[in-house]
Amino acid sequence: MSEKSFLDEAEVPENVAIESKLPLNAIDIESQKDMESGRYHALRSLHKWFAARPTPAVRLAVLASVYPGEIDSDELLRLMKIGPKELDTGIADYVEKKFTEKKGSGTLDDHYGYPNPNTQSPTDTEIEKLQSKLREAWGGELPTILDPTAGRGIIPFEAIRYGIPAKANELNPVPALILKAGLEYAPEVGSLDPDIREWRDKILETARENIEPYYPTEEPGRQILNSAMTYIIQCDSCGGEIPLVSKWWLNKESEGGDAVKPVYEDGTVEYTHVRVENEPGYDPEEAPLRGRSAECPHCDVVNEKEDIRQKIHDGEFEFSIYGVNYETENGDRAYRAGGEIDQKGMQKAAERVESDFDLLTFLSEPIDVSSRTNDPTSYGMDEWRDIFTPRQLVVQYEFLSAFNEEKSDILAKYDSDTAEAMLTVLTLAASRSMNYNTRLNQWRDLFGYGSHLFTDNNLSLKRMSVDNNLAAPRRGYRKHSDHVIDSYEKLVSYLPESEGADLANIDAADLSSKWEAESVDAAIVDPPYYSSIMYAELSDVFYVTQKEYLEDIHPDIYSSSLTDKDNEAVANPYRFEEIADDEQSKDDLADQHYESKMEEIFAEVQKLLSSGGVMTVMFTHREMDAWDTLTSALISAGFTITATHPIKTEMSDRIGVQGKASADSSIFLVARKQDTKSSERTLWEDVQDGIRQAARNQAEEILDSGYNISKTDTAIAAYGPTLQKYAEAFPVVNKKGEEIRPREALSQAREAVTGVLAERFLKTEGLEQLDSLTRWYILSWLIYENDTIPYDEARQLGVAANVDIDNIKRTTKIWGKSKKDIVLKDHNDRVQDIVLLKSDSADNPSSRKYPVNPTDTRFTYTIDTVHTAIHVYEREGPRSAWDWLSDRDLKSNQEFEATVTALLEVLPSDSDMRETLVNLVSGETGDYLDINLDHIDMSGEERQTELGDHQ
Ligand SMILES: C[S@@+](CC[C@H](N)C(=O)[O-])C[C@H]1O[C@@H](n2cnc3c(N)ncnc32)[C@H](O)[C@@H]1O
Repeated sequence: MSEKSFLDEAEVPENVAIESKLPLNAIDIESQKDMESGRYHALRSLHKWFAARPTPAVRLAVLASVYPGEIDSDELLRLMKIGPKELDTGIADYVEKKFTEKKGSGTLDDHYGYPNPNTQSPTDTEIEKLQSKLREAWGGELPTILDPTAGRGIIPFEAIRYGIPAKANELNPVPALILKAGLEYAPEVGSLDPDIREWRDKILETARENIEPYYPTEEPGRQILNSAMTYIIQCDSCGGEIPLVSKWWLNKESEGGDAVKPVYEDGTVEYTHVRVENEPGYDPEEAPLRGRSAECPHCDVVNEKEDIRQKIHDGEFEFSIYGVNYETENGDRAYRAGGEIDQKGMQKAAERVESDFDLLTFLSEPIDVSSRTNDPTSYGMDEWRDIFTPRQLVVQYEFLSAFNEEKSDILAKYDSDTAEAMLTVLTLAASRSMNYNTRLNQWRDLFGYGSHLFTDNNLSLKRMSVDNNLAAPRRGYRKHSDHVIDSYEKLVSYLPESEGADLANIDAADLSSKWEAESVDAAIVDPPYYSSIMYAELSDVFYVTQKEYLEDIHPDIYSSSLTDKDNEAVANPYRFEEIADDEQSKDDLADQHYESKMEEIFAEVQKLLSSGGVMTVMFTHREMDAWDTLTSALISAGFTITATHPIKTEMSDRIGVQGKASADSSIFLVARKQDTKSSERTLWEDVQDGIRQAARNQAEEILDSGYNISKTDTAIAAYGPTLQKYAEAFPVVNKKGEEIRPREALSQAREAVTGVLAERFLKTEGLEQLDSLTRWYILSWLIYENDTIPYDEARQLGVAANVDIDNIKRTTKIWGKSKKDIVLKDHNDRVQDIVLLKSDSADNPSSRKYPVNPTDTRFTYTIDTVHTAIHVYEREGPRSAWDWLSDRDLKSNQEFEATVTALLEVLPSDSDMRETLVNLVSGETGDYLDINLDHIDMSGEERQTELGDHQ
């Protein structure tokens, strides 16, 4: 395969497929299938990394970014390996039909009638045909794809899988190692089987022998698999032992239910094993730990969480094994209580760590985690070695030593590439095993074993954690290494005979130091997720481990002591804490860092792209700040947006995703390199209407097409065409000549889409006549179908409805804050108790706490009137409600009627507020109000089905 030289005359197709219509529904369905556990791309199972895109979405981006002109839906889907072999046409319809059909008892593949596309590669003939089409369109040579922030490299892998040359760069050494294995060794060195398993067996044998003394067993032939471990601290009040356990289950799902029953005596605790079904009256969920504080089982005094944290921080605790999962000689698994024998094993390891010189400094790099409040350092874990118990540390060390024992033989036996490949894959295996054996792994009582390190998306200490005997079968090194080797071998089998990708491990803001200008034709960028994931901070644990194994083999990858956090393109306010001041907050500084880094990266991509080259950016975020920052960077770097597509790419293992900050749908923004930047300024007033119209059109198009996304994502999908318009007009200024940022355009888009959604989904008329607060309240329920909404989005919706939600918060109490969300309040939280008011009771409700006074005759906002009517009905019954309504002459009151019917349309059918509203418009109050309900589904079942059904 020959690469297009940068010296060739630039020839670029006028259009590529991603700039035209695509079968998005079918690709979304495939992406969802791809995201189901067990069906991941083999690169994902090679080693943990913190972000991954589903293969179909990636394949689409790769193929459609270089495929010239429009592509027929069937041709594209067939090339992507979607659809049954025998089906030539109508593949998209077929996939959609299968999606809605009830699935039988077989596998997903049985149901759909074709294998998981990510396990399928194109045939040689398909590759040849594709290559000839590409050559024809790209000046006689194959186009080269660049991924500047490649992560573990699914994008470039899929490129080379289709015979398209690829360059892949990644800043972080952990995914850089995965790239090396999957995109260099797999295509160039090829299979390592069966030799690699023989070396693995040797390593395991040596490590097993050395680890065995630390896992003593009660009976010969038994083998400890994994143990449930906690901390014992001393009670502040009586000095008794408190195990920091919140439930005593070992395995809830096992026959009879295995649990531990503690015996508290004379200030000590001992453990016994029970089958819960044989212990009537015993509740394993009654345990000392409540949240993060603990009630002493000896004297009942509550030990506060901060005191407990301090004790753990200061090392005033003892590790305690309270349950053990073991295997008998004939392979049966069982549980027993932890006891003296386990403590002996732990003690032996602690003595070894204290006395073995090599172990004293093993993994002693500092933990540099700034962004998480629950970071390990607040529990006294200052160095990476501290996330292990002494026994876990010894185990890590023994596996490393066993690896080192084989290393020179491996290097001597094979050519250097093969030896390096072998050592790299074996290191990934060791690193994956480590991931299952730290103090930060949770004991999972539903399964009876431990989780992996990052299931809860941070580095928090687990009070009930797991000690996993890696020398043992089932969940030990053998299993993990098989998993890694199998994944590697799959990758080998997926690839055509080809060169690997051209790899770099540098800051993408410096790409031109590695690759020539105009040396790539399409860039596919999956940028870091703004403030959602702090890749470098989280990955140090893998880095320091892998460095021990491979520093001599890959000195370039392991040249620093920890991963590079300064050059990482993320918005991490905690890293700016020390330099923030009154002028610039840490959030502003973090934003600026992300924006300037992304701008530099886009500028480098721009340099590397051939003239007119295509860049497809995958962007997944709800926060408008993130959109504003990223698109500003893109446009400032000289790109113009040529197309956009909403597409579902959200992965379940995306780590550190805060609250609801990440969207279900992503947007693919397709941009082209502009050779000359226009400096002509456009007046905001001149583009505003066009922007609104573009957003409206997109929302209407999505709704008409039946494309399967939520209402919120419809608004986000409209950002694409909005930004396209904005970029065309860039730079945009107001009448004073001040710059208008993308955020303004996005706000307009929100407002326009909200209007479309209200028109489509609300049959109630007269909404525009309502006051802004009431309108905002109704729209919030309409769009989110929930009382909890991300703050940023609620605020944006406020802008659309003409209400500043921060201004009205205190006076109306219509919403409350909950972390990064707002919670919409109902009558219970807002209206003073009418009964207490009338009785003139001393407990008169505070008007500050409950701003709505039900004895008023007029209300500032119609939502207050409706909330009060609901309150009176609930508190005093229909008769009083009738009086209350008629005293205020609410019969035929248009605003009242519109608010009531709109709420009946938007509130969930199980909401109490809706139930009372239904009562209010029925019976005698209903007779009085005489509201026209013909357009309302009073059962609540058919509301919002068009989109809601699919969420
Ligand atoms: C969203 S992830 C890419 C995931 C990838 N598409 C995959 O499927 O594995 C973004 C990546 O950008 C990397 N990154 C962050 N800052 C970078 C920089 N300055 N240069 C290069 N890569 C960077 C992160 O380490 C992270 O792996």
